[in-house]
Amino acid sequence: MARTTFEEISAADFFYRNRDIAGFTNPTRAIFAAVRELVENSLDAAESLKVPPDIYVRLSYANETDKETNVFRLMIKDNGIGVPPRHIPSAFGQVLYGSKYKPKQQRGTFGLGGKMAILYGQITTHQPARIISSTGMSKIYSYKLRIDIQRNRPLILDRKVLINKERWRGTIVEFSLEGDYSRAMPKILEYFKQTAMVNPYANLTFVDPKGRLYKFARATEEMPDPPKETLPHPYGVDVELLQRLIHVTTFRNMSDFLKNHFHRIGEITARKFLEFSNISPSKNPKRLSHEEVVRLMRMLKEFREFLPPNASCLSPLGEKLLKTGISKELEPEFIAVHQRRPSTYAGHPFIVEMAIAYGGEIPRKGSFLIYRFANRIPLLYDEASDVSTIVMNSMNWRRYKVTPDMPIAIATHICSTKIPYKTVGKEFIADRPEVRREIANGLREVARRLQRFLTRREHVSRDRKRLDIFSKYLPKIAEFSTQLAGKEKNPDIKKLLRSVKRFGT
Ligand SMILES: Nc1ncnc2c1ncn2[C@@H]1O[C@H](COP(=O)(O)OP(=O)(O)OP(=O)(O)O)[C@@H](O)[C@H]1O
Ligand SMILES: [Mg+2]
Repeated sequence: MARTTFEEISAADFFYRNRDIAGFTNPTRAIFAAVRELVENSLDAAESLKVPPDIYVRLSYANETDKETNVFRLMIKDNGIGVPPRHIPSAFGQVLYGSKYKPKQQRGTFGLGGKMAILYGQITTHQPARIISSTGMSKIYSYKLRIDIQRNRPLILDRKVLINKERWRGTIVEFSLEGDYSRAMPKILEYFKQTAMVNPYANLTFVDPKGRLYKFARATEEMPDPPKETLPHPYGVDVELLQRLIHVTTFRNMSDFLKNHFHRIGEITARKFLEFSNISPSKNPKRLSHEEVVRLMRMLKEFREFLPPNASCLSPLGEKLLKTGISKELEPEFIAVHQRRPSTYAGHPFIVEMAIAYGGEIPRKGSFLIYRFANRIPLLYDEASDVSTIVMNSMNWRRYKVTPDMPIAIATHICSTKIPYKTVGKEFIADRPEVRREIANGLREVARRLQRFLTRREHVSRDRKRLDIFSKYLPKIAEFSTQLAGKEKNPDIKKLLRSVKRFGT
């Protein structure tokens, strides 16, 4: 009789077996994903200090004498916050370890991306990774490490401490990986271009394996305010979260517990809510029975007087920066940008920003050029499944005088303390009704402005055509009329043309 065997695997082993869900599907996607995960970590690291990011990425052949192989060395250097030495091994050698699990708007979410890149490098080349980092204090720490995949632990092979005379602050990550650069190149360059668009305050430098230098210089030093960490909103809580808060709280009554652990609950709201739910304000939260915790959760969801989350925890790009970024890359004839008011889904605040651009460098390709961004990350794969695409396809574009053959680019930016990604590869956003509604409203607004521009342009071009006809035939008519009338001197038609021109504008 066949025997079933049971076993447990570590988180690292899980992602080793299922690397597709993190975007490491094949050598082309893997090299793209590795670059992208590391660039995003560096952008987060610089932004958390509100310093304009300076990021240098170098991809080179691992073996300079044999360029036919598909093994590359990837190096990335930033001027970010740096990693405290005791966290370096786990931050880069332990899957699901990170500093970004807080409700705060950041690119990083899962505690996974950087490790997936290193893990992929390790399983394809068997080489360790090198991490050098300093928080700007007197020392620089350098680690050579590997991931123990079965135990999900970092294996430190070498550790050096260097004197930081220059007080350098930042992080360098370097490792080898297998990849198909020639296939990945267009996507990688597109990624840098779009990253520059939504991070116009960043300096990005990329040196590719052929030694070509791509520089995306910052267009402004101005940076959006860094997002703040927020507390959970009462509409988004569940029993597990309540239990965890009750476990850690130091507050001894329900009123203080609610006020200090939840977003949008102050003195008055706490009082009203406790009255509504018939809970005594002096009750000790640690004394709540299981049934009472479940009831508390239900009541929190039912109470209609909590204000929606405050957007101060979000850091949208803003209409001005979005316009700067897009105009810099596409130089359009017309651009409309619009920032929606903050909204929420499942208790998470989010803001949608939209832009529509026409003409300039935008190609006519029979369909719109679509840019999707989430927390200032460009999303380049799985466009068809993304909520923005769903909204765009369901728009009645004819109403706005827009046809697919027009040179139109549409950009959507969603920022949130939690982006509803559908995979850990962060490639597309789930179709949440609240998010979809905001995108649709934003799109309608910019589409209306484009429509006005197109109508105005149509009038101008019609008048110009009319004027062309007048200026072509009027002199002839004047000549004939002069002959017919038996006169010698043609009348002065310049005055007449001038008045037609004035009428047409
Ligand atoms: N360049 C860097 N500078 C400073 N800290 C970094 C850098 N790269 C990584 N870290 C730290 O290492 C942690 C793990 O990074 P990793 O990319 O694996 O996960 P994450 O960014 O938290 O989430 P995600 O899986 O969504 O990328 C980060 O949370 C951050 O604290
Ligand atoms: Mg990351």
